[in-house]
Amino acid sequence: MSITGIYPPSDEFVRQAHVQGMEGYRELYRRAEQDPEAFWGDIAAREIHWFEKWKEVLDWKPPFAQWFVGAKTNVSYNCLDRHAASHRKNKVAILWEGEPGEQRFLTYQELLRLVSRFANVLKARGYKAGDRSIIYMPMIPELPIAMLACARLGITHSVVFGGFSAEALKARIQDLGATVVITADGGFRRVKEMKLKAAVDEAVAECPGVRDVIVYRRTGSDTAMQAGRDSWWHDLDAALTGPDAEHCPAVPLDSEHPLFVLYTSGTTGKPKGILHTTGGYLTHVTATMKWVFDLKDEDTYWCSADIGWVTGHSYIVYGPLSAGATSVMYEGTLDYPQFDRWWRLVEKYRVNILYTSPTAIRALIRQGDHWPEAHDLSSLRLLGSVGEPINPAAWEWYNRVIGKGRCPIVDTWWQTETGGILIAPMPGAVPAKPGSGTLPMPGVVPAIVDFHGYPVEPGHEGFLILRGPWPGMIRNIWGDPDRFKEQYWTKVPGAYFTGDAARCDHDGYYWILGRVDDVMNVSGHRLSTMEVESALVKHPVVAEAAVVGKPHEITGQAVCCFVTLKKGQGGDHDKLGQELRQWVAHEIGAFARPEEIRFTDALPKTRSGKIMRRLLREIVTSHTVTGDVTTLEDLSVVTNLAAQQDEE
Ligand code: WT7
Repeated sequence: MSITGIYPPSDEFVRQAHVQGMEGYRELYRRAEQDPEAFWGDIAAREIHWFEKWKEVLDWKPPFAQWFVGAKTNVSYNCLDRHAASHRKNKVAILWEGEPGEQRFLTYQELLRLVSRFANVLKARGYKAGDRSIIYMPMIPELPIAMLACARLGITHSVVFGGFSAEALKARIQDLGATVVITADGGFRRVKEMKLKAAVDEAVAECPGVRDVIVYRRTGSDTAMQAGRDSWWHDLDAALTGPDAEHCPAVPLDSEHPLFVLYTSGTTGKPKGILHTTGGYLTHVTATMKWVFDLKDEDTYWCSADIGWVTGHSYIVYGPLSAGATSVMYEGTLDYPQFDRWWRLVEKYRVNILYTSPTAIRALIRQGDHWPEAHDLSSLRLLGSVGEPINPAAWEWYNRVIGKGRCPIVDTWWQTETGGILIAPMPGAVPAKPGSGTLPMPGVVPAIVDFHGYPVEPGHEGFLILRGPWPGMIRNIWGDPDRFKEQYWTKVPGAYFTGDAARCDHDGYYWILGRVDDVMNVSGHRLSTMEVESALVKHPVVAEAAVVGKPHEITGQAVCCFVTLKKGQGGDHDKLGQELRQWVAHEIGAFARPEEIRFTDALPKTRSGKIMRRLLREIVTSHTVTGDVTTLEDLSVVTNLAAQQDEE
């Protein structure tokens, strides 16, 4: 299906928008371009509370940036205290629904009270600014409560998605040097319990630095507790006494104080800890809430991501709460108990803004229009997309069946590293072109360049880079500044290398084409080919493994593995294939489970012994091999693999 052309917002939408018309957008962009420091300084002063003002807006010694140098602020204060002291005090901050159907409406006052109590719990156990915590929880309000309590005290948190395995959890606890782990007994996923505490036990057994494991009771199932190390959240809470139990002043923190580290897949087997700090990150996510989601005080806003990924950090927790929004949080899956669960939620809570991913949209399309059509979706006024390029069929359905042709769609391009949205339309200003992230945010300077770093002509494909710093940018890779420099700042000197291919059209609109490195995008989740390969070769029968992303109708890409076995191993390939898929799920997490394991006698390699993943990618994508194969050690390996494919 081809959906082309330009989709401008309705006059009515424009009239009520924060930024109106192309002129409105251009004016903002121009101001940021002329004087970025004055521009961001104004926004930071207007949108954020500071205990102490900065001496300098920006200190930029590439690749290291400091924003709002010398200023003091606190993210938790900005998300809670200032709203609890305003007309928003009884506004719902977090509107939560559990998978089994329970509801919790936490107002700004109430959320502040709960966060303060939990911060006092952490304080009573001796935790303070500079310490690190790991948060491994299901999608329940105590997850953002734990994040905000850490932020309140300056404890740097790292949220680990509940779908990650004990092995992945352990690696993150160790890399971060965390001393406290905050978790729950389990979470619900299609009625089944996801056991979280059991995974924590397995992980922490090899983490001697962990002093405390704090466990929130969510499912109520039998949970082993280790004396001296584990405590129940409710017991620690009940032990708080005195008139100050509900008060815990937010600590004024340096603008560059580490707020959180979020691990993401890079091009090697070892995940990178992406570091985000305080003042710049907060300014960035707060500003983009208004620009991109055109947030109004009366809106009910719902981002369907999991808080374990950056989308949830920036656009369920920190961005919406800092902007004073009502942020909907839903624990479960979109198909439980039936495929209309999301539309029930939209109808019940009169959701105005829905932010989701192309992979979810495709999964919903497949189930038929009768699910959304059975519900009143008239409250919706804006739709968002994130995680991968949105294909025309998904865009068209989202627009027609969900938005009824009235809701602008904002396609938002960004990354864990960018902290917040960088390329997206301001919906009352920039007309959409389906499949394009459209134009950069003010202060963001993208470019498309070739192998040598020279700009390419409009309409041509190249590498997407970003020139100059922006407030929400990655500050470092935790504990590995060399990798930080190498990974992002040396490929095109002085510019940030995104790892994405893109092109810019004659209107200046950006079209993202996908990753150029060994990173796969499965259901909008980032996964490195090397990470899966390292997991596979740990299995006793596997000699070598090569992993590539294979196009997939629903998930965008699926994990496809080519495996050679050690001499004398083999037997039942079907059975072994199942075993290896399960093995990867256990090593990394269920979301990384390969779609396919192919057994082969050899892998295509260059003469220097490097696996030529490019060829394997071609085999699974187009079933043929083209291009340069002169460096191939043994061409017959490839011809055999391609022939095998044809037989299927
Ligand atoms: C990669 C970053 C940002 C939150 C979710 C993913 C791809 C992301 C889009 C979009 C095309 C997109 C890119 C990017 N991506 N949004 N709107 N259009 N591609 O964060 O896990 O850090 O992944 O996701 O390839 O590099 P992430």
